[in-house]
This record gives sequence, structure tokens and C-alpha cells, in this order.
Amino acid sequence: MEICFAPMEGVTTAIYRRLHRQFFPGVDRYYIPFFSPTPDRLFTPRQLGELLAEHNRGVPVVPQILTRSGGDFLWAARGLKEMGYEEVNLNLGCPSGTVFAKGKGAGLLLHPDRVDALLEEIFRQTPLKVSVKTRLGVRDPGELSRLLEIYNRYPLSELIVHARTRTEMYRPGVHQEAFALALEQSRAPVCCNGDLFSLEDCRKLEARFPTARGLMLGRGLAANPALARQLRGGGPPEKEELLAFHTALREAYREEYGPQNGMRRMKELWRYMACLFEGGDRLAGKIARTTDCVQFDFLVEQAFQERALLPSPQGFR
Ligand SMILES: Cc1cc2nc3c(=O)[nH]c(=O)nc-3n(C[C@H](O)[C@H](O)[C@H](O)COP(=O)(O)O)c2cc1C
Repeated sequence: MEICFAPMEGVTTAIYRRLHRQFFPGVDRYYIPFFSPTPDRLFTPRQLGELLAEHNRGVPVVPQILTRSGGDFLWAARGLKEMGYEEVNLNLGCPSGTVFAKGKGAGLLLHPDRVDALLEEIFRQTPLKVSVKTRLGVRDPGELSRLLEIYNRYPLSELIVHARTRTEMYRPGVHQEAFALALEQSRAPVCCNGDLFSLEDCRKLEARFPTARGLMLGRGLAANPALARQLRGGGPPEKEELLAFHTALREAYREEYGPQNGMRRMKELWRYMACLFEGGDRLAGKIARTTDCVQFDFLVEQAFQERALLPSPQGFR
């Protein structure tokens, strides 16, 4: 089964993806966190920093677009084609209040007829393969049936199902039975996403849904960067390689964003990675409260020196 790294805005940056691939190979595809095409139809320097081939060398990536406009999607898809991409993903799941209010992401799921019209327009002219990452609906997981009917009208290259509704945001627990429905009814190959935090979680899902094309892992992989390797039969993370990965990332962020903003990026990651260490909850709290770079580096050094890694990390929960 394929293993995909979920897009995580603020966490799986181009720098992160490149170093993750270098230190912990095993992921088949990395999805780039979404970008929204701007009304002036120009890629911003920030977007180009994520999208251009030179920032993704050697890393298999799929870009993701967040929009409610077919015209904007097609404009962006043409630009992505020029950059060398063959596939693009449409975000139909982002639950954030502002995105939802604008009728994008999960906001589109409120109006299945608009999803239909958007896909109609996209598929009439898309220069790229198009996959969709969807939530189950806005309030009721049962909304998925209607959405599947619509998705099946178009030749999606893949349907990634994040098995939560918008209202559920990121609350623990997903509706795994929705994967069964999607696998039974979707014409497009299905990739399962949501709460796959440990080796056992993934193995159980693979056994339950052997016809899924892939698993998409987000917070679990951010927490344990070796999880994809373990799924391929490799070993759990070891302290030296984790430290080497961390050091390379810290340096690259410092160089790109400066010490303070670089530290902020690292702190986002520690929300997940702390769970690899004994006493991870307290460690996560201490790191989250730090606003001083020297203190941050000290806490990290201390964690690597004094805390054992958990023998079978259960991942972020
Ligand atoms: C900090 C953060 C940022 C995210 N950014 C995106 C994004 O840019 N695009 C997207 O489709 N999903 C995004 N997601 C959702 C994840 O891709 C994924 O669907 C979700 O976390 C469930 O998977 P998990 O339980 O393996 O983490 C984000 C989630 C988090 C926690």
C-alpha cells in the first residue's frame, strides 16, 4: 500500500519535506500544503518557495489548491504544469473558520451542487490529473454518499478521504466505516486518512481495507518521522538519527527565517515530536511556553541527553 505524507500547513514545508526524505525515506508522496490562487493571478514568492521544482528536488510531491473558483483552479493548474507537475489535488476539507466562511475547503461541502459545478468546470479543461481530498461532509458523516455520487461523475485520479466531518475539526476518533463506503462506491482509487498514529493503527487499517490504494499520515508521521520506514519493515527511530534530522532542520530554518521565526517553526513540530520521548507531555508544554531561542535549544539538548525514546511510540494523540 502506498504511504503518503499529508499536507500540514506550517509543518511540512519544502525544507521539512526535503530533510525528511533525506533522513527517513519510505514515503511515496508528499502533499504540499494548500495554496489559494490570488485574484491577480500571480504566484507569490512564498508560494513559489514551496512549489518550484528546485525546492523539491528528489522529493515526489503533489501540490494542493484551495479554491471555489474553476477559473482560478485552471489558471493555477496551467502554471503548475509549466513548473513540471502532472497532478494536482483539490482541497475539499479545510475546516478553518475563515476558509469555511468563504465557501472554500469544507465550506464547499455545504453545497454539493457547487462541488459538482466546480468539478465540471475543472474537468472540462484541466491540463493535469486531479485528485480530491475530502472530509465526509459538514455535520453528518452520512453526507459522504451524496458526495461520492458527485465525485464518481468525474475521472479523479484519486480520492483521499479524511474520515471526519467539518464540525468534528480534529477531535479524536474517525469514522472508519466511511472508508468501507468509499472503497465500495468510489470509481477513483481511495486513500485513507485520519488518526493513523502508530504502526498498529496502520496495520489494522491495511488488514481491514486491503483494497485501499494508500494510507495518508499527517500528525502521526510528524510525531514519528520513521513511521513510514517502520511500515516498510524498517526500525523505529533512533536517537542519533533523530538528533541529526533535528539539527539539520533547525539550521535550515535558522538560515531561511532567522533565529526567532526559525524557532517558531521548530516549536510547531515539537507539538507532535515530543511524544517520542519519555515524559513527552511535560516536555511539549515546556517547549511550547519557551519564547527564547537559547532556552529552546537548551531544552532540546537536555531532552536528547536525558530522556529515553519510547520503545514503541504510539504517536501524537
Ligand atoms: C497543522 C495542520 C495543518 C494542516 N494543513 C492542511 C493542508 O494544508 N491541506 C490539507 O488538505 N489538510 C491539512 N491538514 C489536515 C491533514 O492533512 C490531515 O488530513 C489531518 O491532520 C488528519 O490526518 P492525521 O490524523 O494523520 O493527522 C492539516 C492538519 C494540521 C494538524
